[in-house]
Amino acid sequence: MTQADQFFLGAPPVPEGAEIVCIGVSLGEEPEAWRRAALPFTTDAEQRQAQRFLHPIDGVRHLVGRGLARWVMRGIVGNVVGDFTIMPQGKPVCAGAGADFSISHSGNLVWVAFAGRGHVGIDVEQCRESRDLLRLASMLHPTEYAALQQCPPTELAPAFYRCWVRKEAVLKACGTGLSLPLDRFRVFTDGRARGWLESMDARAVSDWFTEDIPVLAGYHCGVAADFSSSELRVVRVGC
Ligand SMILES: CC(C)(COP(=O)(O)OP(=O)(O)OC[C@H]1O[C@@H](n2cnc3c(N)ncnc32)[C@H](O)[C@@H]1OP(=O)(O)O)[C@@H](O)C(=O)NCCC(=O)NCCS
Repeated sequence: MTQADQFFLGAPPVPEGAEIVCIGVSLGEEPEAWRRAALPFTTDAEQRQAQRFLHPIDGVRHLVGRGLARWVMRGIVGNVVGDFTIMPQGKPVCAGAGADFSISHSGNLVWVAFAGRGHVGIDVEQCRESRDLLRLASMLHPTEYAALQQCPPTELAPAFYRCWVRKEAVLKACGTGLSLPLDRFRVFTDGRARGWLESMDARAVSDWFTEDIPVLAGYHCGVAADFSSSELRVVRVGC
């Protein structure tokens, strides 16, 4: 039995009260083992979707993310739920569960976040230094762009990816994807580990939970939820 099989056979962690639960797995050298272990928690539609990706590894990441989401949802609602509802801007939700989740995958890592109230978003990114980071940063809030322009060259990539995953986590909690303009809210780009949402429309940032999750070297990960919580539970396998 593989580590992936053992993981999915265990009891899923379920968010209690205002707790946020995040689960991360590294596909490592065993993406196929993770795909097989996740399959019982995926739907026919997801399996067909996974076969449509140009690169098979993208299909594996899709199935493992959806599988992890449905595995935890089983713990919350008591049975394996069917198709997720896809909201107009792309966020998958489990209708009627009274709990929210968010999925992110990049490189070898798949992360999923859960909340028993409100909305949650998670983002993980593998750092790619070859990108023209300052050009990408020019799409962010002007204050974030200015802070990144000030970074010494060796600090630019970590600061950029920190900022990127924080913004994506907020966008995913909102469920809007990029239809919420990136300059409508601001995050801090510095190394603080939590409380990094600087401003958000008319809403008080104290209404939000925001935190970075330390992950494998070469990756950044952030989680955001639109309710105040101080309880983050992290479960990880190899990352
Ligand atoms: C789709 C988007 C939500 C994130 O995509 P991403 O970071 O490229 O990819 P991730 O792996 O982190 O997330 C993909 C998952 O997000 C979920 N998702 C898709 N649309 C979503 C939405 N509107 N809201 C919340 N979650 C969404 C899905 O579960 C999807 O995975 P799945 O289809 O396998 O289930 C969106 O924000 C996007 O297009 N981003 C493009 C990148 C960019 O320019 N970002 C600017 C950052 S500052």
